[in-house]
Amino acid sequence: MREENQSSTLDFILLGLTSQQEQEDFFFILFLFIYPITLIGNMLIILAIHFDIRLHNPMYFFLANLSLVDIFFSSVTIPKMLANHLLGSKSISFGRCITQMYFMLVMANVDSYILAVMAYDRAVAISRPLHYTTIVSPKSCILLLVGSWMVGNANSLPHTLLTASLSFCGNQEVANFYCDIASLLKLSCSDIYLNVKMMYLGVGVFCMPLLCIIISYVWVFSTVLRVPSTKGVLKAFSTCGSHLTVVSLYYGTVMGMYFRPLTSYSLKDAVLTVMYMAVTPMLNPFIYSLRNRDMKAALRKLFCKRIS
Ligand SMILES: *[C@@H]1O[C@H](CO)[C@@H](O)[C@H](O)[C@H]1NC(C)=O
Repeated sequence: MREENQSSTLDFILLGLTSQQEQEDFFFILFLFIYPITLIGNMLIILAIHFDIRLHNPMYFFLANLSLVDIFFSSVTIPKMLANHLLGSKSISFGRCITQMYFMLVMANVDSYILAVMAYDRAVAISRPLHYTTIVSPKSCILLLVGSWMVGNANSLPHTLLTASLSFCGNQEVANFYCDIASLLKLSCSDIYLNVKMMYLGVGVFCMPLLCIIISYVWVFSTVLRVPSTKGVLKAFSTCGSHLTVVSLYYGTVMGMYFRPLTSYSLKDAVLTVMYMAVTPMLNPFIYSLRNRDMKAALRKLFCKRIS
């Protein structure tokens, strides 16, 4: 009991990604560049879609929502890391640590589910073009997005509460630059059997969208192969290419991050963590806007409107 009381008053120490000061400085400078680019890039996507009436359709609404989640996702962890580095302090209070963990889990899940919704949207558009507007109606768009947020919360709250109820007997050094659940579980001196079992379940729920994405793409490819018109094939690949790039980047890094022995932590793991936490949210807007003519036109319009 005494230990539990202690854990709610003591601060956690965020050790950072590596133990070497030069590497920490390097990551600090990297984040200092990446964070504003992430904010501006994703904000531009949202504004461009908002102000271009031609982009008012499900595909772009989902993209705007993804950008919004990416802004939240990087804002949960990076500003705190930057502030701590600048102030030369590594501490984070127990409450903030748990809050950060909760929002990080929510955003990661919602991100993952919106990627699945986007894949489903493209699959319907390509495989059932005549029924597209009835299947992906404004109402079902809202439903899919609300559903993503609800699953995101449902797959974060239990883990957060379970972690918050653990005891930390004096060992408060988190081996990461944010409060991630695996590092916190390793620190606890309570029995973490239930936490670990729940975490496996959580990883399953988190990875379910990947299954949906794979099924959607199998559907897309089987349609494209059945209708062998070069124009159709090219159109399918141009709309799906960006999405597929983002999906590979996202799941590639997250798998590299979590499918490794929990005991070892090398520079490679640090780089993967940075890729997942900071680089992916930054790249999403670029991948979508550089490969998409409508997006480029909308961005150009946005700037011209501002200038004139
Ligand atoms: C998210 O999607 C909804 C419904 O499709 C849309 O009305 C809303 O504008 C989108 N959010 C943003 C930030 O664009």
